[in-house]
Amino acid sequence: MIEKKIVGEKAVEFVKDGMTVGLGTGSTVYYTIIKLGQLMKEGLTIKGVPTSVETEKLAIECGIPLANIKEIDQIDVAIDGADEVDSQLNLMKGGGGALLREKIIARAAKKFIVVADPAKIVNHLGAFPLPIEVVPFGVEMTNEQIRLLGAETKIRYSNGNPYQSDNGNYIIDAKFPNILNPVTLEQKLNMIPGVVENGLFNQMANAVITLNAEKSVVIKN
Ligand code: A5P
Repeated sequence: MIEKKIVGEKAVEFVKDGMTVGLGTGSTVYYTIIKLGQLMKEGLTIKGVPTSVETEKLAIECGIPLANIKEIDQIDVAIDGADEVDSQLNLMKGGGGALLREKIIARAAKKFIVVADPAKIVNHLGAFPLPIEVVPFGVEMTNEQIRLLGAETKIRYSNGNPYQSDNGNYIIDAKFPNILNPVTLEQKLNMIPGVVENGLFNQMANAVITLNAEKSVVIKN
C-alpha cells in the first residue's frame, strides 16, 4: 500500500549515523527497514534491535547488523507501526502478535517514532480488538478475568492451534467498547495474573508520522 510506504520511508529521517535503532514489526515499518538497508549501502552505519523473529530475518536480509541485546547501553530511536493511534498519541498495537518485544524496545528507546497510515488514526481506541499476551497456563481463567473487565474475547488461533508469540505465549484479542481511559485499562489488564503485557502503548510515542486528508506527510507530536 503506497500510504504505508510513504510514512514508513519518511521515518528514516529520524535515524542518524552511528545510532542503535529499534526495528518494529509489521507491514508499515517494513518500508522503513528496507529503506534503512538501502541507506546502509550508501554509507549509513547503524545497528538494529529487532522486535520479532520476522523483523530479525528482514533486517539480516537488508544487511542491517544486529546489536547484541545483552550489551546495548542505549537505543537511540525505535520505529514501529500501530493498529490505532488516538488524539493523545496513545496506541493500540499487537495485531501482528509482537507487542511484548515491541513495548520493551519502545520503552527503552530515547525516542519512539510511530509510522501509521491514515486508516489507523482514530478519536478513541477500541474499534480494533486489543491484543493481550498471556501465558498458556490457565489461559481460560485469564480469559475470564479479561472478560470481567467488559470485553468480548477470543483466544487467537493460527492453523488450528492457539497462536504462539515469539515468547511462547498466547494472544487474547479483547474487544472493549470505546476505550475512554487507556491508561487505567492498561494497568488493570497487567494486574491480572497470567497477563504478560497488553497492546496499549500509552504516552510513549514521541512522534507519529501519518498523512493528512490532502495525502501530505504530517508529523504529530
Ligand atoms: C505487530 O505486533 C503490531 O504491533 C504492528 O506494529 C501493528 O499491528 C501495525 O502493523 P501494520 O504496520 O502491518 O499495520
